[in-house]
Amino acid sequence: MSPDQPSLFDDPAKENAITTDLVKIEARVWVLHAQLNQANYAYYVLDNPALPDAEYDRLFHELKGIEAQHPKFLSIDSPTQRVGATPLSQFEQVAHEVPMLSLDNAFNELDMEDFDRRVRERLVSSHIIEYACEPKLDGIAVSLLYEDGLLVRGATRGDGSTGENITQNIRTVASIPLKLLGDNHPPILEVRGEVYMPKKSFNSLNAAAREINEKEFVNPRNAAAGSLRQLDSKVAASRRLEFCCYSLGRVEGHEMPAKHNEILDAFSKWGFKTNPESKVVQGVEGCLNYYQNLAGRRNDLSYEIDGIVFKVNEISLQQRLGFVSRAPRWAISHKFPAQEEMTILEGVDFQVGRTGAITPVARLKPVFVGGVTVANATLHNMDEIKRLDVRIGDTVVIHRAGDVIPKLARVIIEKRTESARVIEMLTRCPVCDSHIERIEGEAIARCSGGLVCGAQRKEAIKHFASRKAMDVDGLGDKIVEQLVDEDLINSFVDLYSLDLDAVANLDRMAQKSAQNLLQAIEVSKKTTLAKFLYSLGIREVGVTTAQNLQNHFLSIIPLVKADFETLISVQDVGPIVAQHILNFFSEPHNQEVIDGLLNAGVHWPKVEVKSEDQLPFANKTFVVTGTLNLMGRDEAKGYLQSLGAKVSGSVSAKTHALVAGEKAGSKLKKAQDLDIEILDEEAFISLLAEHGIEHEQ
Ligand code: IVH
Repeated sequence: MSPDQPSLFDDPAKENAITTDLVKIEARVWVLHAQLNQANYAYYVLDNPALPDAEYDRLFHELKGIEAQHPKFLSIDSPTQRVGATPLSQFEQVAHEVPMLSLDNAFNELDMEDFDRRVRERLVSSHIIEYACEPKLDGIAVSLLYEDGLLVRGATRGDGSTGENITQNIRTVASIPLKLLGDNHPPILEVRGEVYMPKKSFNSLNAAAREINEKEFVNPRNAAAGSLRQLDSKVAASRRLEFCCYSLGRVEGHEMPAKHNEILDAFSKWGFKTNPESKVVQGVEGCLNYYQNLAGRRNDLSYEIDGIVFKVNEISLQQRLGFVSRAPRWAISHKFPAQEEMTILEGVDFQVGRTGAITPVARLKPVFVGGVTVANATLHNMDEIKRLDVRIGDTVVIHRAGDVIPKLARVIIEKRTESARVIEMLTRCPVCDSHIERIEGEAIARCSGGLVCGAQRKEAIKHFASRKAMDVDGLGDKIVEQLVDEDLINSFVDLYSLDLDAVANLDRMAQKSAQNLLQAIEVSKKTTLAKFLYSLGIREVGVTTAQNLQNHFLSIIPLVKADFETLISVQDVGPIVAQHILNFFSEPHNQEVIDGLLNAGVHWPKVEVKSEDQLPFANKTFVVTGTLNLMGRDEAKGYLQSLGAKVSGSVSAKTHALVAGEKAGSKLKKAQDLDIEILDEEAFISLLAEHGIEHEQ
């Protein structure tokens, strides 16, 4: 300051004014800290947002502004200080004063009973033990150190005695308090728990990686670990990580409660997230019930768990039990059956579908995963094989969660041997030897044999006989396969001239069942034009398209003769479907089949010619939403369209009625708000019946 400039301190009044301003600003800083911390806690820990996002942003911005203008008010525990540290060149080592232990595993009820017995024997107790039960989160164990309520260090578990200092990254995890909430904190407190990535965040992270052709993370645990091991905390901050605490490390100058569940309650009061599924139970029986219950809901949780952790609840008992090598005697992890297992890809078969699509199928050395033995898994197409870079002889990881179809998740490249063989696409169909073609831009390769191909014939006949098609009761897959293999049928037409004795001679058939089958085939001759069209198996012509074609053409002759322009004028028929229909009818073989079927006596009632306004729902718009139990949504759509209705995807004031199945969401709410008629499935079926449509289950 130059001497000729008047000093602020020359004028005591001015000095006082400035001091009061600063006091006010400091007070404001504290208020902002408290408000932002509380909002953070409500949002990330309680999952119950308190402030609107925009208000949070305003407060945050205000605090940032003050901190920029008055750096002395910028403190390390400020809510603005979660990111912003300079990238590290490496992590420092951290010694754990209280070792971070691991857990012994139990794999079945016997192991659990043994554990409980060992606990009681050591305690020389015949009493039932109280256990605290918690989901075993599949993430990364971390230790958080608080001094006088401030987060001073975050560390990984490492080998249990030495970990890495990952404080910068830990600070970016929104559910970790930088400053403890409430009061009565221990001067030194070490909280331990799991940093994990919720399934949703994991899926979007991988989707983003896929989009830019980057390597995906194998599972949420690896994603969490990878994020915490970033030297640049901005990367960690961009990952949606969460923290849930499950045990106490060091504590000084404070009496902690006597039970594990009460310690968790204290953590929760200080601003930590504890698992809402945690529960105290009595004895091993309570543990096993808890396990069963959570195992059943495992796939519904928003995060991955790989088992349940059971802990003796009474801390004094934990202390009496102590630990062996690296695991406590007072806790155990009861693992769920693995959802991923390794096995060997022994070979690849190629299956031929109804439309000739060739699907590679992995033949695996049988492996028990997710509760079942898996020996096959679809590989979808050659692009998928290329993406996985999988070879015959490779060690592969099979993933099966819940009822999901098992899939080959990835290859363990490190285990590849010299003898691993590249998987080549066939050039000829494995069933009929016709050549295989792959159209530019399509992922699927197809056998060009059409109905010459036994595999396609079998699938085509199964489709023809299926419920929504000609509905031949009792013509199951196994019978179709035998009929084709024994050369008893070559096309749909032959079904209608089957010989009773020949059918009775098939495996698992007899005179009576053969008679029943022939009777069912006879009954199927009476059908509708739409079902007939659907049963022909024209590519991309499903139930709804077949219904639309019936509505438009009313009989088969104009449809067979229709040109491209006419076809694309039909509701829901685009250029691709139109081309498939044209190709189908221009094939002489298909014309013969249609003639043959009609000559065999397949018939349907004449479709009434109705002008637009004779149709009951002409000019009326319907919306279908939710899950219908007795029919698919497409079927419901098809029925409505056959009555002249338009079917739209969204509810508006112009909607005539909403067909709402189970679990209907926002569309139902909107229809209620707009006072639009709502039909549940039962009411919808009655409405169809009133207009002469009997829906058969
Ligand atoms: S207690 C002395 N509780 O499991 C007890 N661990 O194999 C130490 N884990 O490294 C751990 N959820 O990463 C405990 N509710 C839970 C847990 C849990 C996940 C992990 C933790 C630990 C590993 C032990």
